[in-house]
Amino acid sequence: MKKSKNKNTVTSSFGTTKREGHDSSEFYGRNLYSKHLNVANKKDLLDIKIPKIGDWADKIYCQSSENMPIPDNCIGLAFTSPPYNVGKDYDLDLDLIEYLELIKDVGREVFRVLRPGGRYIINIANLGRKPYIPLTSLFHDIHAEIGFLSMGEIIWQKAKGASGSCAWGSWKSAKAPRLRDIHEYLLVFAKQSFSRPDKGISDISKEEFMEATLSIWNLPPESAKRIGHPAPFSIPLAERVIKLYSYVDDVVLDPFVGSGTTCLAAKINNRHYVGFDISEEYCLIAEERIKAEELQPSLFEKS
Ligand SMILES: C[S@@+](CC[C@H](N)C(=O)[O-])C[C@H]1O[C@@H](n2cnc3c(N)ncnc32)[C@H](O)[C@@H]1O
Repeated sequence: MKKSKNKNTVTSSFGTTKREGHDSSEFYGRNLYSKHLNVANKKDLLDIKIPKIGDWADKIYCQSSENMPIPDNCIGLAFTSPPYNVGKDYDLDLDLIEYLELIKDVGREVFRVLRPGGRYIINIANLGRKPYIPLTSLFHDIHAEIGFLSMGEIIWQKAKGASGSCAWGSWKSAKAPRLRDIHEYLLVFAKQSFSRPDKGISDISKEEFMEATLSIWNLPPESAKRIGHPAPFSIPLAERVIKLYSYVDDVVLDPFVGSGTTCLAAKINNRHYVGFDISEEYCLIAEERIKAEELQPSLFEKS
């Protein structure tokens, strides 16, 4: 393997085993990349004024996230799971084009409010079998059109398999076997830069970092019944995203906040939060979960 002057390794025809200090400029200099990358200059990004945290933060807004009353360039991380439009309590029955328009309108707003280098992580599953609708691929295209840079995708393995699901299509026959999904995806996007141009405090441990930078996450889902929402995130999932992709004191946004898990996990992990949902019922659940967390220290002091 060739060695460059300052770095430990360079990309070779056989790959490389050691990534620390790896010089990848040759790989990214190839035509495959150079004509498509739209990354801003770090100095220009550092010149962008970042608004101070104001009374727009640490709130749940009971309104559509297609228009967010928050300033440009103020959010470090957005993490969400959009409505899937498949018949859950909160779903409208939009056709695919209308549905993707909603996702795009919200994506544009998220892009506006993210600070340079801010990340947008979207949890989504692909749908159906007859035919299979690859939402992941459609979401990639839409967000690339908006201007997001794709940083990859995580497979969230929610179950080990061989569970109660018996949607085989046909039993032990090649007539119509159907795949049974035990995973969803987390699509990872960034605004204007793959790295945060600003400095901040990271609070992820070595073990968490090693685990979180693998492309498959094994984390159990949350119980819908326990939370009172049909599709809640689990706190460990939100915490892992928050610790990996944001600094302490960042503002974390969830444009489809539901029961408020992202905001609650942000608060527990010393970040600010902003959440949006069109359902008054879910906004109330979110606010109550956050309030219960605020009461925790005083309960502790009393005992
Ligand atoms: C998959 S759920 C999010 C669940 C959330 N991750 C949690 O932990 O509870 C999607 C949410 O989007 C909300 N929603 C649908 N359309 C919306 C819109 N235009 N703006 C904001 N929220 C919307 C729904 O009411 C629903 O609660």
